[in-house]
Amino acid sequence: MKKLRCLCLGLTAALAISLGGAASFAQGRLHEGEESAAKDRPWMNPQLSPDERAEMVLKELTLDEKIDLVHGEGMPGWPGKVFPKAYLGNGGAGFVFGVERLGIPMIQMSDAAYGIRSSADNGRYSTALPSPIASAASWDPQAACEYGALIGRELRAQGYNMTLGGGTNITREPRNGRTFEYLGEDPVLAGTLVGNRIKCEQGQHVIGDIKHYAVNDQESGRNEVNAVIGKRALQETDLLAFHIGIEIGNPAAVMCSYNAINGDYSCENKYLLTDVLKKAWKFKGFVVSDWGGTHSTVKSSAAGLDNEEPEDIYYGEPLKKAVQEGKVPVAELDDHVRRVLRSEFASGIVDYPRKRSVVDVEGGLETSRQIAEQSIVLLKNDKGVLPLDRAKVRSIAIIGTHADEGMISGGGSAQVDPPGSVAPAWKAHVWFPTSPLKAVAAKAPGLSVKFASGADPAATAALAKQSDVAIVFVHQWSSEDYDLPNLSLPENQDAMIDQVASANPRTIVVIESGTAVTMPWIDKVSGVLEVWYAGSKGADAVANILFGDVNPSGKLPMTFPRSEADLPHPREVIPSPSMLGKAAVMATGEAKPTFEVHYDEGLKVGYKWYDAEKKAVLFPFGFWLAYTSYAYSELKVKAGKQTTVTFTVKNTGSSAGAEVAQVYVALPADAGEPPKRLVGWSKVKLQAGESKEVTISIEPAYLSIFDEGSESWKMVPGSYSFMAGGSSQDLPLVEKVMLK
Ligand code: BGC
Repeated sequence: MKKLRCLCLGLTAALAISLGGAASFAQGRLHEGEESAAKDRPWMNPQLSPDERAEMVLKELTLDEKIDLVHGEGMPGWPGKVFPKAYLGNGGAGFVFGVERLGIPMIQMSDAAYGIRSSADNGRYSTALPSPIASAASWDPQAACEYGALIGRELRAQGYNMTLGGGTNITREPRNGRTFEYLGEDPVLAGTLVGNRIKCEQGQHVIGDIKHYAVNDQESGRNEVNAVIGKRALQETDLLAFHIGIEIGNPAAVMCSYNAINGDYSCENKYLLTDVLKKAWKFKGFVVSDWGGTHSTVKSSAAGLDNEEPEDIYYGEPLKKAVQEGKVPVAELDDHVRRVLRSEFASGIVDYPRKRSVVDVEGGLETSRQIAEQSIVLLKNDKGVLPLDRAKVRSIAIIGTHADEGMISGGGSAQVDPPGSVAPAWKAHVWFPTSPLKAVAAKAPGLSVKFASGADPAATAALAKQSDVAIVFVHQWSSEDYDLPNLSLPENQDAMIDQVASANPRTIVVIESGTAVTMPWIDKVSGVLEVWYAGSKGADAVANILFGDVNPSGKLPMTFPRSEADLPHPREVIPSPSMLGKAAVMATGEAKPTFEVHYDEGLKVGYKWYDAEKKAVLFPFGFWLAYTSYAYSELKVKAGKQTTVTFTVKNTGSSAGAEVAQVYVALPADAGEPPKRLVGWSKVKLQAGESKEVTISIEPAYLSIFDEGSESWKMVPGSYSFMAGGSSQDLPLVEKVMLK
């Protein structure tokens, strides 16, 4: 039996990295011909620490140069003013002037949620990866790292040196239109994965970013909503995800969000930016506002906002004046500037200047397919309908509006343009040219593979009836700046599935969605695959799963509820009252919170809610099926400074696979916590019949609660139940341990 140790970096281990790690990006040797430059510009010496280098540059700067470093210079298409200086942007969402005379480069930013945005209108190519929620379904820190590294490489190839990816808001409200950009409902899962992504993104010498800090958990009225949430709930849910991500990934930038929290806008919220982020968490990078998310000069500066984007409404002339009049202390401005400079050195963008190159298209597509294969979740497989057996299945019906041509993607600033097409309009439905029909046909030479769009119900049912299996591709599009009215499939697709399943019970539904969907037809179909927004190579990945060339190993990073009535906020998400109108907010920055959302469910986010409220769900957090089965045994918990949990996982089926083995803990009753929380996991590769012993180290913080009185994390002494198994509702191993 092999022994395996989980290598996932957690809070404590990562802390060690974050202290030394940033410096190591830039530590290197002087290159030829650089010695004289190093004499005139000692900060160009990569042997010095980013802090030392930033301090040296800071001393050289004029007030105007400092101001230039703390705001953006416009964005193509932004409704604000026209900038007098020549537009020097790279076509991305924003850019910040450098200080040419001192060798400090411009920061060129691009959105990069699942690939580099806005490439087609620049004539550039980007690989579309599966959406972040899909990568969370892989539960694989290594896959998250490859995801980040690919984005980092393609950013540099396109002439950018800063990403605006790294979305980490936890899924408190599954109808949130940006759920696909985030990493699910659990802070430990989301934080660990985003941290690994950012670590590897920055490894390519770009400035990494984590966003939208914080509690931007719905899009409706995002510029006007005040999220009301208790401090302990805030710390143990949304902020914990950010904290873990920052510890592991050490991002050079944090983007504050549009919404207000407990009365103050995030980008002028001293508790969030200074007390928590910069003081308690010792974050050394800079805080950048979401686009148009800055609403003041003196208040924002004092609260800890370092850089206004994409313009200079509050951090241009008004900030200069405020400094001259003593309303903003010079030391405060210097802190903003120092953080921007330090991040430039720490990320390596000074030592490794931007240089365009040709994107590795084929390598990117391969990575995209592999991650998609790891992230597809098999939700139902009755009577072994999957994998498809070529010896038995002679005819296949492929059904769905675009199933002949492509698969849908998530919209908004995350949108990656499909190669070869015209750049899509904001919020257009974009179908990547990855054809399920062609991918399935390529896997089934000699079989009959026919297509129906579903537009003609009678013809569609007839095709389903005459085929051995019917595979229905359904979609639910979502985007930034818009919440879903409900979790139903749109465009009458539920009825289409029902008709097809009535005609042929061997119906397999393939769901392309950015969040949970409800499934009124679940009992009528034989198979269900959740494939998320699957990226440039989605169809090939789906076909590989359908035919069993890949054994499904993805697990749900969020609960699929039975209906919206079971959500913590069963009402429809409040539509934006749009006090000023969005365009006005963007152009002037003027806004104030006009309505509140009370997150009274507090700690009970996702599965914690359904567990605590004893509500049955459609599919629980962590759920999956595979073409094999796994057995768990021999749980041992070793409590101490570092608690470790050891158990054995065996592949009891007949095909090789990868099992996401999960560990949950129930805290002592005195802790006042929901019934259980995820504290660790390991993705274990197992041949048929193979067993492995898995050891998972549990971060002490994950066994603690946030104490509002002392503003710190503490362990509650008492009996802790450790549980191990395959999902949040399949935990066969339990051991109770007393912890002090
Ligand atoms: C989004 C950010 C994005 C920015 C720049 C904003 O509307 O909320 O996530 O990075 O625009 O495009």
